[in-house]
Amino acid sequence: MNKNVTVIVGTKWGDEGKGKIASREAKEAKLVIRATGGNNAGHTIVFNNIKLPLHLVPGGIVYPNTICIIGPGVVLDLEVLLSEIELLKKAGIPNVEERLKISGRTHVILPYHKELDVLYENFKKHPVGTTKRGIGPCYGDKNNRTGIRIYDLLLPEKELKEKIEEAIKPHNILFKANNMNECVANAEELAKRYHEYGELLQNQITDISPIISDAIENNDKIVVEGAQAFRLDLDHGDYPMVTSSNPVVSGTLCGAALPPQALKTVIGVDKAYNSRVGNGPFPTELPASIDENGNLIESDLELEGDVVRELGHEYGTTTKRPRRCGWMDCPILRSAKYTCGIDFLCLNHLDTLGQIGLKLGYVKVCTSYKYKGKIINYYPDDMNLSHEIPEPIYETLEGGWTIDSNCKTYEALPELAKKFIEVVEKASGIKVKYLGTGPANDDLIVRD
Ligand code: GDP
Ligand code: IMO
Ligand code: MG
Repeated sequence: MNKNVTVIVGTKWGDEGKGKIASREAKEAKLVIRATGGNNAGHTIVFNNIKLPLHLVPGGIVYPNTICIIGPGVVLDLEVLLSEIELLKKAGIPNVEERLKISGRTHVILPYHKELDVLYENFKKHPVGTTKRGIGPCYGDKNNRTGIRIYDLLLPEKELKEKIEEAIKPHNILFKANNMNECVANAEELAKRYHEYGELLQNQITDISPIISDAIENNDKIVVEGAQAFRLDLDHGDYPMVTSSNPVVSGTLCGAALPPQALKTVIGVDKAYNSRVGNGPFPTELPASIDENGNLIESDLELEGDVVRELGHEYGTTTKRPRRCGWMDCPILRSAKYTCGIDFLCLNHLDTLGQIGLKLGYVKVCTSYKYKGKIINYYPDDMNLSHEIPEPIYETLEGGWTIDSNCKTYEALPELAKKFIEVVEKASGIKVKYLGTGPANDDLIVRD
């Protein structure tokens, strides 16, 4: 079988800059596929000076000959998708509707999934800090085999109504028991509305398998734009502080309907510092003016975590929440390497880390952990909410560099930046091939 699939995968807790490298890799690709999650993702593309915050449509849409696919592993909020299509058209991206294909097997997020997301969080002693986009409850219905798929929207309205009626039964019982009568779903109303969305999108809804098999037979390049990340994976992440899909590479291949034999390259994506939004363990987290609900506290922003957040503009693309920030964590990278089969690393925000170093006078890299009395170089999987978290062991480097826009080769990088990259490569065991020097698709050094 031809091998021409490149998978882009986040190595930490999301927002590593996957959208940028996926979009850039899509330049020579025939197909770009979103495979997991939904509009919990926020991928920022900066192309020809236009900033596009995309949640569902793969970033490859900016190239006029690329076909973009929303794969069967995605959960789809159709209202968000329709407004994203409008945004892209307004931005002057050509033939968006002709080039966007939606797998009929994709599951649909309905309004009650969003209400349930909030309700389940409220039930918890330790909330996950979800994006409240209905992701978990939609996957829950999918697993329970009561989900509504895109194909169902093309059924006669009466049949769609019957399916929704069955799906909402347990949810309506729950809403009523919690005096949430305003959330009780009405199958007739929903069937009418979602049948109309089906009509609006009927030219995009398709069986994607012939498109994929043609591309593999022709040896066309296929890019999978991973969403979320390794540590947010339902099986391999910080359960229960995770999302409800499998963003690791094997999960994205499944969600994109791709055979593993077609895989050529896996690019792991990370930032030169790390961030997390939502709750859960974060060994290298720095103190910051953020309260336990994730909101900013008034302060003079002098804490290390505040410096990183402000210089990195670390506020969620989806929810605008301030992101928790910390130093680069290499034990996680080493674990990601083997769980995801990472060939190369794309290290973004090298410019920002230089600014952080200028402000603080140093930068740090966590090269191993002290955990339960031992020194380890991987992420332990027996942590839970009541356990100790690993204590980072840092290598501290002299900090501070600037990278100007003419710097296009590895050799031209400041020596301190090169030293930082060497330390990361040694501790993680992964070769850094792509270096992000700014937000635009072209702000990337590719190392031979
Ligand atoms: P994703 O979810 O992994 O696609 O990442 P997000 O788009 O949520 O967050 C990454 C943020 O960093 C976006 O605002 C990008 O425009 C920005 N970005 C990506 N790479 C770089 C880089 O190398 N330098 C700088 N300064 N910004 C970057
Ligand atoms: P991209 O693709 C950052 C996090 C949420 C929360 C947890 C569960 O932009 O990197 P969910 O709504 O999925 O049930 O929330 O997962 N989360 C993300 N964090 N980037 C993302 O996507 C995320 N998608 C989910 O913050 O902690
Ligand atoms: Mg993001």
